[in-house]
Amino acid sequence: MKRNWWKEAVIYQIYPRSFKDSNGDGIGDLRGITEKLDYLKELGVDAVWLSPFYKSPNDDNGYDISDYRGIMEEFGTMEDFDEMQREMHKRGIRLIVDLVVNHSSDEHPWFVESRKSRNNPYRDYYIWRDGKEGGVPNNWISHFSGSAWEYSPETDQYYLHLFSRKQPDLNWENPAVRNEVYDIMDFWAEKGADGFRLDVAGMYSKREGLPDGAPQKGMVGAEHYQNGPRIHEFFREMHKNVMSKYPEMMTVGETSGVTVEEAKKYAGFDTDELSMVFQFEHVKLEYVDGDKFTLRKVKLPEFKAVMSKWQRELDGTAWNSLYLANHDQPRSVSRWGDDKKYRVESAKMLYTMLMTMQGTPYIYQGEEIGMTNVIYDSIEDYQDIQIRNAWQERIVEKGGDPEALMNAIRYIGRDNSRTPMQWDDTVNGGFTEGTPWLKVNENYKKINAAQALEDENSIFYYMKELIRLRHENEVAVYGSFQEYEKENEALYLYNRELDGKNLFVVLNFTGKEQPVAIPEGIKGAVSSLYISNYKNKDALEDRILRPYEAAAYLWTK
Ligand code: NOJ
Repeated sequence: MKRNWWKEAVIYQIYPRSFKDSNGDGIGDLRGITEKLDYLKELGVDAVWLSPFYKSPNDDNGYDISDYRGIMEEFGTMEDFDEMQREMHKRGIRLIVDLVVNHSSDEHPWFVESRKSRNNPYRDYYIWRDGKEGGVPNNWISHFSGSAWEYSPETDQYYLHLFSRKQPDLNWENPAVRNEVYDIMDFWAEKGADGFRLDVAGMYSKREGLPDGAPQKGMVGAEHYQNGPRIHEFFREMHKNVMSKYPEMMTVGETSGVTVEEAKKYAGFDTDELSMVFQFEHVKLEYVDGDKFTLRKVKLPEFKAVMSKWQRELDGTAWNSLYLANHDQPRSVSRWGDDKKYRVESAKMLYTMLMTMQGTPYIYQGEEIGMTNVIYDSIEDYQDIQIRNAWQERIVEKGGDPEALMNAIRYIGRDNSRTPMQWDDTVNGGFTEGTPWLKVNENYKKINAAQALEDENSIFYYMKELIRLRHENEVAVYGSFQEYEKENEALYLYNRELDGKNLFVVLNFTGKEQPVAIPEGIKGAVSSLYISNYKNKDALEDRILRPYEAAAYLWTK
């Protein structure tokens, strides 16, 4: 397998709005990030993926861009950006910027022009259609509730918005739009960005004719735009126009609904599209009928089957991304671990898994100190447009069950991971001296970075060790994957192998003691302990695993 820096890297995601406020306006900013780079250096990450920092009216916290070459006022200036990037590079940290080009803001000059008249030169930058039978052009549903179409009286037509009505979809069928995107990418690459995370990258290509979607509870219409007909052609073109000029550049596509087969095209070693994609199967297992706010309990074998499938099936042909949390997902320890009694143990266990799998691991801000989901009392405390719109539609308009929705929001809502980063135990967790744009999680007095840095047994230092070990052991990065006891409802057991060097991992996903039987062949062969979240000896025996225990061992065949 070809070696690349981005295969061996551990990437840290920053959601700038919630990371660190340097000027007391309650909103995180670029200078705040620069202030905290030594913290990231201490952790040992190789790159930062920075969520959008461009000019934006903030209908969706920057994922609605009104100027692709300008900095959001609340976040600072271009000089602040340059300084931040310089300081990252000085510390050997690369910068991956977020490219949001499935849609722009409706306040982007292209759209301001586009909506003016049917023959405006920018009309075809977006997707305009006549209504049908006095209503919307088709039955597609927006990811933020309601129809994906908005009527525009100026020209008596509708425009498509797969997200909010302030996020009109760009028309990728138009080569002029694609060339604009390539120019934007060149702009940031020439400024020194080392790569791009491509927002909803699988959604650029919509099926011709925009046919109605099959009726279902969740995202009606998705089968006509997720991994659509021309998507691979678009990425090959992007690669030819942009990536081929910058051989070190890495790209990661956000591709909801991606299958293994599709991923092999996007991120195949010989397909010249993207470096890797984010798959969504493990984070959508809980959805009932594809609806984010109707959830069920998932048993461990189902979760393992998804994780293991991606390990096995991309091996040797395409590259995985590994993540347990990001700004759209809740906190991993609240979701798959125990955010109370065994918070530290279970957070360490989960990241032992992530960091001993094939692919590039992503750590979302705050995961390294085991931040948890937030419990707000009132719907008014939530800021996320997805949450607010769901509440408006399901409760206010349709009279649904508020308690059921509130429970779902507290479990899966996006604001769980967007609460301000908890730096210390001072007011607002040291995030801001002003009033934070989103309430800080009350547990900041106990869970914060300053505390973690003082405690040698903290999740932070465990994460740091996992990163260091990954950098020093190619088997953790490139090794093949073999699973044991697939049906075991409590334990996840697997082995990685590279040229005879092996890494065997045991993970207890429960808060109870669990017996483990070591597979024949591995038993007796272990040479050393790689890492463990409990005190353990080098020898690996059949024994009782403690609650949320994780242990990984090196051995040679
Ligand atoms: C995916 C982003 O991660 C999410 O935060 C955003 O709301 C949508 N794309 C729309 O850009």
